[in-house]
Amino acid sequence: MELPNQVKIREVAPRDGFQSWPDFVPTEHKREIIAAAVDSGIQEMETTSFVSPKAIPQMRDAAEVIQTAPRPACLHFALVPNLKGAQLAIEAGVDGLVVVISSSEQHNMANVRRSIKESTADLDEIFNLARKKNRRVTGALAVAFGCPYQGDVPTADVFSLAEAFVSRGADSLILADTTGMATPPRVSRLVQDFRKQFNVDFSLHFHNNRGTAMTNLYAALTAGATVFDTALGGIGGCPNVPLAAGNLPTEDVVYMLEDMGIETGINLLSLIQAAKLLEKRLGQTLPGQVMKSGPRDPGEALKVCHHSL
Ligand code: COA
Ligand code: ZN
Repeated sequence: MELPNQVKIREVAPRDGFQSWPDFVPTEHKREIIAAAVDSGIQEMETTSFVSPKAIPQMRDAAEVIQTAPRPACLHFALVPNLKGAQLAIEAGVDGLVVVISSSEQHNMANVRRSIKESTADLDEIFNLARKKNRRVTGALAVAFGCPYQGDVPTADVFSLAEAFVSRGADSLILADTTGMATPPRVSRLVQDFRKQFNVDFSLHFHNNRGTAMTNLYAALTAGATVFDTALGGIGGCPNVPLAAGNLPTEDVVYMLEDMGIETGINLLSLIQAAKLLEKRLGQTLPGQVMKSGPRDPGEALKVCHHSL
């Protein structure tokens, strides 16, 4: 088992977390949290999404958020569900697009109201547009480890969707466990098979609906993954199901990786402070653990956690 020396973190709280928060998070608060995350060393972020404001009203300020996003320390990506989203995102000035399509028909229909075939039919135009404007394109393969409607998703279905992106020149892919159905053996298998089949950068996106997210991350690491999507405080999930379905908390992942000798380039103390600011702004206790217990060093822990340990 060989572990990497370095891991890249993609911070997704501003998209995955704020989209699923029951109340609209004021744009000012979004900016504050984005800036705090970037100050702590985050270099790539899913900063918002360009989606129908009727479907996800929480993201209706996408253009404003992108226009004021802190640069150049961080690359700002936006999730898009279709060509219209790609056009709006590029107009607003994103560094890259995350084009989301589900690996199962039923989930794609529930999420974007189209068949997989209809969604992939947009890809040529999306890629042309992105190339013309010199923007990156990442393909997000939702429900790659299991679908809440269908159950198991055949690897062949995940890989045929991956091929739709890779054959058009995608810069990277995301293997997403959208509703937290993965377990370590499934993760090891999919990551190993994916690496045999595709020579493209990829990240893993784990939700913690069933408590397996951190062990899944470890399984992915040992199978050769080096990029992970995580969210400050562990927020995120399906719209209108807050907390129950959070992402891996960025600060928990950074704590573990750094202690394993794997560099993230992120300052844990300032990340914890960013998570605490997020908690304050959202007005609710968040699932993150390290933001409560603190880092390993007792002196540092006292600086950020004002309780007896
Ligand atoms: N951004 C902003 N507006 C959009 C849009 C986009 N990407 N795509 C469509 N719209 C607008 C249309 O212009 C239309 O507006 P109108 O009613 O003022 O004319 C309206 O939304 C409906 O368009 P339509 O193409 O019929 O879409 P739909 O109602 O079938 O919804 C999606 C499809 C994909 C737009 C919608 O389901 C969606 O935004 N889903 C996002 C899902 C998501 O973010 N999930 C979580 C992350 S994985
Ligand atoms: Zn997610």
